[in-house]
Amino acid sequence: MKWVYIKDLKGYLGQDVVVKGWVYNLRVSKNIKFIIVRDGTGLLQSVVVKAEVSEELFNSIEDLTQEASLEIHGTVKDCERAPGGVELAVKGFKIVGKSIDYPITPKEHGTPFLMENRHLWLRSKKQHAIMRVRARTIKAMRDYLDSNGFLGLESPILSASSCEGTSTLFACEYFGEMAYLSQSGQLYAEATAMAHGKVYTFGPTFRAEKSKTRRHLTEFWMLEPEMAYYDLDMNMDLIENFVSYVVQTVLKECKEDLIVLERDTSSLERVKAPFPRISYSEAADILEKECPDFIRGEDFGAAHETAISQRYDRPVFVYDFPKVIKGFYFKESKDPNFVRGCDLLAPEGFGEIVGGGQREDDVNKLLEGIEHHGLNQDDYKWYLDLRRYGTVPHSGFGIGVERTVGWICGVHHIRETIPFPRTINNLRP
Ligand code: 4AD
Ligand code: MG
Repeated sequence: MKWVYIKDLKGYLGQDVVVKGWVYNLRVSKNIKFIIVRDGTGLLQSVVVKAEVSEELFNSIEDLTQEASLEIHGTVKDCERAPGGVELAVKGFKIVGKSIDYPITPKEHGTPFLMENRHLWLRSKKQHAIMRVRARTIKAMRDYLDSNGFLGLESPILSASSCEGTSTLFACEYFGEMAYLSQSGQLYAEATAMAHGKVYTFGPTFRAEKSKTRRHLTEFWMLEPEMAYYDLDMNMDLIENFVSYVVQTVLKECKEDLIVLERDTSSLERVKAPFPRISYSEAADILEKECPDFIRGEDFGAAHETAISQRYDRPVFVYDFPKVIKGFYFKESKDPNFVRGCDLLAPEGFGEIVGGGQREDDVNKLLEGIEHHGLNQDDYKWYLDLRRYGTVPHSGFGIGVERTVGWICGVHHIRETIPFPRTINNLRP
């Protein structure tokens, strides 16, 4: 008998097929039993009617328990009310693996318990939907860049130098010297951009951040485009087109997942370029009026980002930041106290999803930056070479996958947007 995935059953009406999956749920009454089966591609209502099957088969359903794995066969029938529009009239089944006392029951569980059981929690309906959105989001990001002249080239994970400051480095011993897990692939992407023009790097990034917020992980995935001969405005043009494409594509292709997540998609439908752009100084004018705790010249906190983004119906750029709060590699603005950075803030309080800017292309200015940040010049010798041999204006950005997926799915904490999150409190499973 043919093995068919649940998502394809519509094409097999009237035929006998086998489905391989797990028991998601059971509903039993005296004369009819419903086994809800999941196989990763969907949910299937499998029906066993007492009058239509042998007594042995009808009674053996008692042996099924939540999450037992099984191969089940029967006839595919039209059923408008069932998930997927079909049901299976069961003729028989075989248990592949038992499941006794599955810890995650349909009742409500607290997040710490679910996090301890993350390896099993991933099978639940909402987590399943979030993972599908995640995979589709990453694909849309890559698709956009691949079809717009970018070359995907990965950066190393182990490195001798820091990109985003030394305070959040994870260190490890590396054959007699110290190595650090990458905080960002940017510096290497700048090198490959000088070889290929437009590139992006995609990979896991690591930050030993003590912050226990709903937006911080210690290991997260970042996609980082880098473009030779791009200034800050060209960078922002690219970011808004890229983000619009990603959101609109996921909206179209993950409709059912977003329904499972009960996401109100009206605000996502408005995510279309162009996005509003305000300078840090303009943002500070607003915050000084609205947030008594805001101090001009300092970085935004979560509440400040929300106060700014609330004023717009789509993501908003903030650009030209005070030099003192940004990394060593940013290009100076006209006012030398500011640098040409740009952050993109998502609506609805989801905060910064993109950080980027124009890079310093003058070797002496860059040397000053390295010194000023207390970094070891020797570790950046290769990076300085990029300014010594044919330097050009260039820009790029990094988009955090988990923050983007959290925003699209409307989930409160980004730990639910990655299969196995790493935070201060989560190293297992
Ligand atoms: O703003 P960040 O720190 O920028 C960089 O790392 C640049 N080197 C990127 C570049 O220009 N190529 O981080 C970029 C994005 C943030 O906007 C956010 O989406 C995400 O990475 N991010 C985090 N996501 C989860 N947990 C954390 N601890 C994160 N830190 C940054
Ligand atoms: Mg940032």
